[in-house]
Amino acid sequence: MSSSATEVPAKASNSVRHLLEVDNLSATELAEVLAAAARLSPVTELGTAARLGTTKPLANKGVALLFQKPSARTRHSMEMAVVQLGGHPVCVTAAEVGIDERESAEDIARTLGCYHAAIGARVFDHTVLERMAAVSPVPVVNMLSDQAHPLQALADLLTIQQEFEQIQQRRIAYVGDPNNVARSLAIAATLTGAEFAMASPTGYCFSDVDIARIAQSGQPPQQTTDPTVAVRDAHVVYTDVWVSMGQEADTNTKMAAFANHTVTQKLMAQARPDAIFMHCLPAHPGLEVASEVLYGPQSRIWQQAENRMHAARGLLSFLMEAQ
Ligand code: CP
Ligand code: NVA
Repeated sequence: MSSSATEVPAKASNSVRHLLEVDNLSATELAEVLAAAARLSPVTELGTAARLGTTKPLANKGVALLFQKPSARTRHSMEMAVVQLGGHPVCVTAAEVGIDERESAEDIARTLGCYHAAIGARVFDHTVLERMAAVSPVPVVNMLSDQAHPLQALADLLTIQQEFEQIQQRRIAYVGDPNNVARSLAIAATLTGAEFAMASPTGYCFSDVDIARIAQSGQPPQQTTDPTVAVRDAHVVYTDVWVSMGQEADTNTKMAAFANHTVTQKLMAQARPDAIFMHCLPAHPGLEVASEVLYGPQSRIWQQAENRMHAARGLLSFLMEAQ
């Protein structure tokens, strides 16, 4: 193993901005990222396309994208966002990069910072991202860890804004496992002035540390074991898998614990009549969500998936400008 964070003077400056969790942005900055995501569209509208043509903050630059876990949406949305901003994405799998096996996370960040304008990483252990960010000379972006999935939350805010014009005062009900997606969504929701309610079985709720962090961005999350209480008057009903990547050993226990937390049509009927259903994907129809909800008229799963690219583009342009 190579040198640790303390042995080599970091080329990194404390002023480098990273996105390990949504609250690394202030509420104002979050609004800027969402505005950039909506504005910097590569699609057909002439004026918008022309603006993007002159806005290529990644021209002649690379972005390294490291994956310790599988990905469809995150990899493709980040790659295309980099291309749309004029840059060159370089994807690397776990076996190729060997974080803390072939080389320390710190040395990987220092090395990639010699070639790239930013580093995205999907990791099992969130502290690996923190170690990379501590020494990296370029922004480190969390592309999913055991703790957080901020890129997903940015795309989800964009989707909610598109549906309901504003996020503030909208009620977001999350039914299921209080996992990485739920945590980032809760922080994102409170940072934008939305209400966040969580329904999860006894024994599965946000930790006190999570609640304190969410509350720092606004108000603490409402928590209940009854999905019907959480979804009442909700604009958004959200769920994610019960067993996240890396937690497969808990599968049998969790299947039993979450059996009454499936998002069904009956549950959707308890929310507002104009409520939408959201899921970060990949989904397991028949487990956390009924198939008729996942693929039904209230579902916005493909809009969310597309928004991953727009949100990634908004974030990367913000981070480039912030340097
Ligand atoms: N939602 C999401 O992050 O999807 P992937 O795991 O396919 O990237
Ligand atoms: N909670 C899920 C999200 C996948 C995008 C996981 O971590 O596997």
